[in-house]
Amino acid sequence: AVERTLSIVKPDAVAGNNIGEIYRRFETAGLRIIAARMVHLTQSQAESFYAVHRERPFFSALVNFMISGPVMVQVLEGDDAIRKNREVMGATNPAEAAAGTIRHDLAETVDANAAHGSDSPETAREEIAFFFGEDDLHSRN
Ligand code: CMP
Repeated sequence: AVERTLSIVKPDAVAGNNIGEIYRRFETAGLRIIAARMVHLTQSQAESFYAVHRERPFFSALVNFMISGPVMVQVLEGDDAIRKNREVMGATNPAEAAAGTIRHDLAETVDANAAHGSDSPETAREEIAFFFGEDDLHSRN
């Protein structure tokens, strides 16, 4: 089924000049970018976006990293987009990510892991709404 998912190119990948490389991988996988924006998150925005992780030991490191520089936020649309995006990104920890994935090829650590992607349809809906209104989404199906 055609799905939408929220993707973030994280501060490490923006600083590393890898926005285009990551977008190319999305498009090669059949994912269409239907909305995109560069944003430098505030601490409260990052805390709110990652609220599900609030009790995890890595929460403050995660938030501090995510506000360390601008990110690119985009909505990807396509068949099976949520799973496909996670496949293209690879495992959360770059050390465990398969060769040829974004995190294996472009990332160094579990915090600075180049990209974020929604993990379920419910999360995708919430995360897309966090950054974009319905008028911002330029669906091309
Ligand atoms: P992301 O998909 O953005 O969702 C939460 C982020 O927390 C994750 O990617 C990692 O960058 C970061 N993180 C740091 N440590 C861990 C951990 N032990 N398990 C999961 N995520 C972690």
